[in-house]
Amino acid sequence: MNLDALLHREPVVPFAPGSRIPWNEPGFSQRMLAEHLSQLHDRASRRFEIIDRQVAWLHHAVLEGRTGRVLDLGCGPGLYTSRLAQRGHRCIGLDFSPASIAYAKAQASAAGDACEYALADLREADLGSGFDAIMMWFGEFNTFAPNEADALATRIQAALAPGGKVILELHAASYVEALGEEPPHWSVHESGLFSDGPHLALRESCWHPEHSATTERYFVFRENSAADIYAQSTQAYSETELDAKFRQAGLVVAGRYESLTGNEEDDADLYGLVLAGDGAA
Ligand SMILES: C[S@@+](CC[C@H](N)C(=O)[O-])C[C@H]1O[C@@H](n2cnc3c(N)ncnc32)[C@H](O)[C@@H]1O
Repeated sequence: MNLDALLHREPVVPFAPGSRIPWNEPGFSQRMLAEHLSQLHDRASRRFEIIDRQVAWLHHAVLEGRTGRVLDLGCGPGLYTSRLAQRGHRCIGLDFSPASIAYAKAQASAAGDACEYALADLREADLGSGFDAIMMWFGEFNTFAPNEADALATRIQAALAPGGKVILELHAASYVEALGEEPPHWSVHESGLFSDGPHLALRESCWHPEHSATTERYFVFRENSAADIYAQSTQAYSETELDAKFRQAGLVVAGRYESLTGNEEDDADLYGLVLAGDGAA
C-alpha cells in the first residue's frame, strides 16, 4: 500500500474476511509464542503467577476439587492445561497456532502430563465429547463473528458430559466500545509481533455501533516494502444478548464473576461466566 492508498483507505467492516491477523501463520505464531511466554506483560497470555491463581480457582471453586476431562479452546502454549494436569485433570487443548501447539506438546511430553494437543481451527474442529469442563480464556469468544460464536456455543454444548461446565472469560461490552474509541497510534520496533526485523506500525481502531463491534487495523511498514494491513474484530455483547445466545445453544448461565484473576483491579475489561447445560443449572 502506498501513501495515497493509505490516505484513501476503505473503512473496515467488522469480521470481514481476508485481512485477519494471521495467528495461524508459522512465522507469526512463533513471534506470538514469545509474547505468550513473556513475563513482562499480560497482553497475549497472563503472567504465570496470575494463571496459577486462575487455575486454583477453577479447580477448587468451579470443579469442586474433582478431577475430570477438560477441553481448552484456543489453548495457546498450554499454560492452563499443563497446570490442570498437575492437579490430576486429563486435558485436551486445541489451537490453530502451530508454534504454540508444538511448544505445548513438547512441554507435556517432557513433564509426562496427561495432556493432548491438536492443531485445529475452532470454527470447524470436531470438539469431541464427554468433557467435564470446557474453557475459553482471555476474551477469545468475543473475537469470533456472531454467527461463528453461535455455532461454536452449540458445539460446546454437544461436547459436554452430563453435569459438565463451561468456563468463559469474556470482554466487557464497555471495554470493547472503549477499545474502538482509542485514538490512532504509531510505534516503531526493532522486532516484534508483526516482523522479526525493524518496522513501523500504525494502529487505528473504530467502534461500529451498528454492529456493536470494534475493529482494530494495523498498517505495518518494513524497510523498502509496501505496508501490510491486518485487522482484528471484537464483538461486544450485553448480558441479555449472551443469555439468549447461550440459551439457543442449550446452555444457561450458572455463575458470573467480575474477575477470574482473583484481583478485580487487574481486570476491568474481562469477566467470567460459568455455563451449564440447560436443565443442569
Ligand atoms: C489471546 S490467546 C489466549 C491463549 C490461551 N488461552 C492463554 O490464555 O494463554 C488466543 C488464542 O486463541 C487462538 N485462536 C484464535 N482463533 C482461533 C481459531 N479460529 N481456532 C483455533 N485457535 C484460535 C490463538 O492462536 C491464540 O493462541
